[in-house]
Amino acid sequence: MIVPGSGSQSLAASLAAALDEPLAPVEFERFADGELLARVPEFEGSRAVVVASTDSSDAHVELLQLQDAVADRADEVVTVIPYMGYGRQDRRFREGEPVSARAMARAISTGTDRVLVVNPHEPDVGEFFDIPFTAVDAAPQLATPLPDDLQEPLFLAPDAGATGLAATVRDSYGAGETDHFVKERDYDTGDVTVEPSDAPVEGRDVVLADDIVATGSTMSESIVHLHDRDVGRVFVACVHPMLAGNARTKLARAGVAAVYGTDTVERPESAVSAAPAVAERL
Ligand code: R5P
Repeated sequence: MIVPGSGSQSLAASLAAALDEPLAPVEFERFADGELLARVPEFEGSRAVVVASTDSSDAHVELLQLQDAVADRADEVVTVIPYMGYGRQDRRFREGEPVSARAMARAISTGTDRVLVVNPHEPDVGEFFDIPFTAVDAAPQLATPLPDDLQEPLFLAPDAGATGLAATVRDSYGAGETDHFVKERDYDTGDVTVEPSDAPVEGRDVVLADDIVATGSTMSESIVHLHDRDVGRVFVACVHPMLAGNARTKLARAGVAAVYGTDTVERPESAVSAAPAVAERL
């Protein structure tokens, strides 16, 4: 039975349909003191698949509650984390910081037999879990919403780390070249600077591909550089369209043609579902 977190209901429903497994009813409540309660009043079957993005601190608590709510009724608990929050804090950037991804992974491991994470920021995050870990790649789906008529497309990663993801989207689209910018982030101010690649972009359509758009700084900086060089249209394709705060305004002001993401975080930009990729690995 598929057990959805409150922020992953669309993806959970798509997954239930893809697997032909029942979708559990769930109830979410908040007490006057702010504490949360996630209930699963009915459960059937032997396997519980908890599907919950941990895109906020509340969502982390909710995931742990859902695991616990089904633990006594299921023979096996599988946890699918469409978007793993705190995944980017996977090392100590400054003295005295926690490795937050490890702390979260340890807590999640206690309530499940296995875990699947869709496009974790670094696959090495799997080592923080005490149970079998599977990284699911939803990036191939990102080619689907792109226009069929891209002109001499260039699939560009905003930093070297996303080069593989850009290549995956290109391969799935079936045409185009890949390249990457060089990015630096000031961890005190959050400011991002990108060093453009040498690839010729004049008149070409560019697809900027990354795992996540969070504040939109990385993508908007990249788009501005591209428009300075008379690029054609610029599309943004990301697995996790977090789009926090004023990210949409930054992207629109920079001149983005469209933003496409998956439903690992449910947003208006979630043009494709990660469900088929998850179903394949379950
Ligand atoms: C970092 O390496 C990630 O792949 C993203 O590029 C980054 O987290 C995006 O963050 P923001 O949208 O805040 O610039």
